[in-house]
Amino acid sequence: MTLILSSAPIKKKISKELKAECKVLASKGIIPYLKVILVGSNPASIIYTNNKKIYCEKIGARCDIVRLDENVDSSVFLTTVKQINEDLAVDGCIIQLPLPKHLAHLNDGKLINQSKDVDGFHPENIYALLSNQLSDKHFISCTPKGIVTLLQEYQISVYKKRVAIIGRSMIVGKPLAFLLTNLNATVTLCHSQTPNISDITKNCDIIVSAVGVANLIDKTFLSGEKNQIIIDVGMNTDTYGQLCGDVDFEEVQNQVLAISPVPGGVGPMTIISLAQNLLQASKNRVSL
Ligand code: GUN
Repeated sequence: MTLILSSAPIKKKISKELKAECKVLASKGIIPYLKVILVGSNPASIIYTNNKKIYCEKIGARCDIVRLDENVDSSVFLTTVKQINEDLAVDGCIIQLPLPKHLAHLNDGKLINQSKDVDGFHPENIYALLSNQLSDKHFISCTPKGIVTLLQEYQISVYKKRVAIIGRSMIVGKPLAFLLTNLNATVTLCHSQTPNISDITKNCDIIVSAVGVANLIDKTFLSGEKNQIIIDVGMNTDTYGQLCGDVDFEEVQNQVLAISPVPGGVGPMTIISLAQNLLQASKNRVSL
């Protein structure tokens, strides 16, 4: 039987922990506070940011979405970021990506102060990850952190495992490659220019797809020995307008040892990681 790596039981368990932590903080007069900057009206970004807000409020944290017009002047955008950085009441801030083209070049990872960078994009956070020197003062990118939590909760060790990651984004592929390398996995980071990706994935223990192409991963990517684990990071819409991943779930589910579903797999883990990072930021600030 294939193990379905559902996030639901983990979400239940961790939410309980986070709620309890928020209660303790509230008893000291502290409510973890996240600001999400959302520029424009990308429908997926609106859904993702609303989900983040709903979850923060569910655990007892505060989240405000700061909406800016698609065509906002770069100076207004930068002033908004500066004000949030300087706002002593705010613990964490994320800028929802993607940004409109005219602002994208401003995103150098340093826009949000390191201590509020709950997305883990700041160079100091990235360096701590690359050098395997992460501490409580650093933040790990939310989707990679969520994937590691998902694997750990299902007691899937990556130690000495061969992992193929498909997709080299700054949000998922690259940070995940280093996170798993730090955990002593051997990682191959594949991307659009990698020849014969299936030759690589066939020889891996774990395959992570973070490409954004519905049904890209079918059984031709697999060893055929039902000994592999698939993590599907894709958030795509199928021809019926339904949310689906990068993996042809129907085709591969009986060909693997374990697989994360979409929806109900990595997506909720990302939000949990964000909440964990926010609480960490809040606790760090209190101890200052
Ligand atoms: N857009 C899609 N995923 C993410 C994420 O993890 N962080 C931010 N800031 N934007 C995103």
